[in-house]
Amino acid sequence: MLQDRFGRRFHYLRLSITDVCNFRCEYCLPDGYQCEHDRQFMSLEEIHTLVQTFAALGTSKIRITGGEPVLRKDLPDILALCANTPGINTLAMTTNGHQLSRKVSSWVDAGLTHLNVSIDSLDPRVFHTITGHDSLQEILSGIELAQSLGLKVKVNAVLLKQRNQDALPQFLDWLKDKPITLRLIELMQTGENTTFFNQQHLRAAPIKEQLLGQGWSQILKDKTAGPAEEFFHPDYQGKIGLIMPYGPEFCSSCNRLRVSSLGKLHLCLFADRGIDLRQYLQTGDVEGLTRFLQTTLQDKQATHWLDEGYTGATKHLAMLGG
Ligand code: 5AD
Ligand code: SF4
Repeated sequence: MLQDRFGRRFHYLRLSITDVCNFRCEYCLPDGYQCEHDRQFMSLEEIHTLVQTFAALGTSKIRITGGEPVLRKDLPDILALCANTPGINTLAMTTNGHQLSRKVSSWVDAGLTHLNVSIDSLDPRVFHTITGHDSLQEILSGIELAQSLGLKVKVNAVLLKQRNQDALPQFLDWLKDKPITLRLIELMQTGENTTFFNQQHLRAAPIKEQLLGQGWSQILKDKTAGPAEEFFHPDYQGKIGLIMPYGPEFCSSCNRLRVSSLGKLHLCLFADRGIDLRQYLQTGDVEGLTRFLQTTLQDKQATHWLDEGYTGATKHLAMLGG
């Protein structure tokens, strides 16, 4: 098992397979993707070594992230590789919804079980302002198809003061008859979004009070659950999750590790550097990687210092997939 100095166990790997993205989300890549390095993303073989090693160390859940993972042509092969690795029982992916309707059945065939789709607003104009794209309706139909194929779907919405502050009723209406979890995520500061962050950061704590006042109840978490706080309502098929990285206790339930598409281990979303695993991956050295991960994990810090504006090496979340 992978366990750190603070007794936290890591059974969840967030694996970025590309940092390329076709969206221009205001808080992430406002000027679109800029290639800042050789696109030497991990190969299928390297991903195989990585996933095999993590699974042998107790990882049971993998989430494929980007950038936008769908832009990688060998995505179905990567999904199948993860799904067929003994020990992996949950295979999730986070996408901006690109080509969702067209491709989702191939992902399900490859073994995908859970899908998170980013939708920051259900108003097409606001959606366009935030992402630079007009694809909201298409994404919403893709979600229906994904559900009909048996995928468990969550929708991620980043809370933004001047964009969706008053959008809760619209989201709630939409959730009434849909077995979807809506995750409301507090905007996080990154190296490149400080001005936007200062204008738009909205706390989720008042939304929690609002939900509790409207008959929503908090779901008790089990020991292995991550940092999200989840809520249900007897009149709604959908659930709500709040991600409040600026709140107390957020990091104590951390259960995940991250690897970037360039093969770097990030012990935290806001770690001060990525730790290069490439030498082990390129030589298929499962044993060496196992020892290295166990030792390196002892350097994981108790918490991030986001409150103090410290964002580590994280310029934007497209680097690591959130
Ligand atoms: N703060 C909060 N969430 C972010 N995401 C991307 N950048 C940020 C940020 N700075 C979200 C995306 C996506 C998920 C992977 O992370 O909207 O839903
Ligand atoms: Fe792309 Fe996701 Fe960043 Fe939006 S938040 S630009 S979809 S990587």
